[in-house]
Amino acid sequence: MFNSMTRRRFLENSSLIAVASACGTAFAQSVPRSSFGAQSTAEEVTAGLDLSGKTAVVTGCNSGIGYETMRVLALRGAHVIGTARSVEKGREAADSVTGRVTPVVLELTDFESIVACADEIQAMDVPIDMLVLNAGMLLTELRQVSGLEMQFVVNHLGHFIFGNRLMSRVTDAPEGRVVVVGSIAHMGAPEGGIQFDNLGGEGWGRQSYGHSKLANGLYSLELSRRLAGTRATSNCVHPGGVRTNILRNTGFSGARLNKSPEQGAATQCYVATHPSLTGVTGQYFADCNLAEQGDHQKDEAMAARLWEISEELTRDYLL
Ligand SMILES: NC(=O)c1ccc[n+]([C@@H]2O[C@H](COP(=O)([O-])OP(=O)(O)OC[C@H]3O[C@@H](n4cnc5c(N)ncnc54)[C@H](OP(=O)(O)O)[C@@H]3O)[C@@H](O)[C@H]2O)c1
Repeated sequence: MFNSMTRRRFLENSSLIAVASACGTAFAQSVPRSSFGAQSTAEEVTAGLDLSGKTAVVTGCNSGIGYETMRVLALRGAHVIGTARSVEKGREAADSVTGRVTPVVLELTDFESIVACADEIQAMDVPIDMLVLNAGMLLTELRQVSGLEMQFVVNHLGHFIFGNRLMSRVTDAPEGRVVVVGSIAHMGAPEGGIQFDNLGGEGWGRQSYGHSKLANGLYSLELSRRLAGTRATSNCVHPGGVRTNILRNTGFSGARLNKSPEQGAATQCYVATHPSLTGVTGQYFADCNLAEQGDHQKDEAMAARLWEISEELTRDYLL
């Protein structure tokens, strides 16, 4: 019997989440509560795991959270394919860690570069157990790429192409996991969420980063729906406020952000590897646990529309 004591304990230890997919089929997932939290490091959340034989792809592996993610996944035995914007940056990062890291070049503003990078990874002919879409930028002034707001391009559209071209390798893996690095900043997107009628960014002001991070969260949500029926999953994470190079274009110092890169990489490493999360998909994590998210990031219709628009904008580069 499911008596009140058992029920209370169950609710303490897990969050039962009802997720209605866009096609109207409701399903429930039990997501275990972890003992890890804001202070936990990537090494701590992966302690005891043997990732040998597994392959991870991590974008933005030469700096900040991505560097630490690459370092710890390789330390645990995974073969990490790490992207950087130049051969030199990737090689330097790869050579500085213990384990097997293969650097590849990826420039997310250049769609040809994305195709070339994904083709290079495809040619390695291995299933991808972990695809960590981590690279990102934060701007406080308007910049555009081919008329589109630049963070939307780098943080979302570039990864949309990259994911499209690699997803068959993720679904080849016994339990492929896509981890999209979003942010709590998604709550600060412009009113109405994704600005479908104005993707040039005019008038968004400082909400432009939040807009791109909302796109990350919605991408993960729609991807999880599209992966239904496969063994693969997709989840989005907020790493916390982390002392990295992310503020480099803003004139602000990140010195007062509360997490170290070791702590900042914990949630994405946890979601990418932890055995307790097998089958968990379409969720949003922070501090290694489920987290509150804004209404727009849960909006399945907005997620589906973003997917369609992203396809239209990148059609020439998709498989
Ligand atoms: N730090 C935080 O407080 C925080 C909070 C929430 C979410 N996040 C997210 O965490 C992720 C990692 O950021 P971080 O804090 O580790 O920042 P970071 O130290 O600045 O690292 C960003 C990484 O993304 C790469 N990148 C930037 N623009 C790129 C482009 N056009 N093409 C390809 N790669 C590009 C960078 O390469 P280069 O070094 O060559 O520029 C670098 O490897 C981002 O998605 C960010 O939005 C960070």
